[in-house]
Amino acid sequence: MAHPLSVAINTQAGAAVYSKTALRLYDFWVHGLSNHYLWHCPTVQLQALYQQHSTNNHLEVGAGTGYFLKQVTFNRLKPRIVLMDLNTNTLEVVSKAIAHYQPAGVVNDILSVHQPVLPLFDSIAFNYVWHCLPANANKEQAFTHLAQFLKPDGVLFGATLLGKDIKLNPFAKGLMALYNQKGIFGNQDDSYDALESALAANFSRYEIRQVGTAAIFTAWK
Ligand SMILES: C[S@@+](CC[C@H](N)C(=O)[O-])C[C@H]1O[C@@H](n2cnc3c(N)ncnc32)[C@H](O)[C@@H]1O
Repeated sequence: MAHPLSVAINTQAGAAVYSKTALRLYDFWVHGLSNHYLWHCPTVQLQALYQQHSTNNHLEVGAGTGYFLKQVTFNRLKPRIVLMDLNTNTLEVVSKAIAHYQPAGVVNDILSVHQPVLPLFDSIAFNYVWHCLPANANKEQAFTHLAQFLKPDGVLFGATLLGKDIKLNPFAKGLMALYNQKGIFGNQDDSYDALESALAANFSRYEIRQVGTAAIFTAWK
């Protein structure tokens, strides 16, 4: 039974929007247009981040369309790749797209108190997921869970769109407000400082670089 004072957290909204149709439009809208014209974080910066840090023992949390994962050159024919998402559409789409790697799929809410037990990973990507988690949740918990999946010398990397203390053009501002209203984003309180404190609470070393509205991060245990 839920604690009488607990607040119901709906983590579904940040994942439910990714229907098969939405996923067909996603790469064009997000990585083709929005990154450049709304968030001012060129997609090539995220591609470079993936290529630099992905290893042959990789966990992809928040799989989406697998846009970046598909472009990474692994230096083993059969890297171990595990896809994790709350939404099964994304697991299906990405599993097909990178079928040659025979990825495993895990349905999991990264904020749930019940996290699966998995052999640990050398790299974990958590890209454009933190801003989808609900604003009224303890979002720091996501990093606690991610750290638990990481080997002692492994690396966590990704980016998130900040929603607080940032400058946006009027269209981007309106769209971000709408996404927050619909629960697609939950980043209204996500400042650079909030991200930094979440990383500092869970990792001994981290780097954050702000590019436009995006905070690109890398963290080590
Ligand atoms: C904006 S997409 C990012 C996709 C991809 N990482 C990228 O960079 O293009 C967010 C992804 O996170 C997933 N997601 C949202 N909330 C989640 C949660 N609580 N637990 C696990 N995955 C979640 C969504 O289903 C979706 O696949």
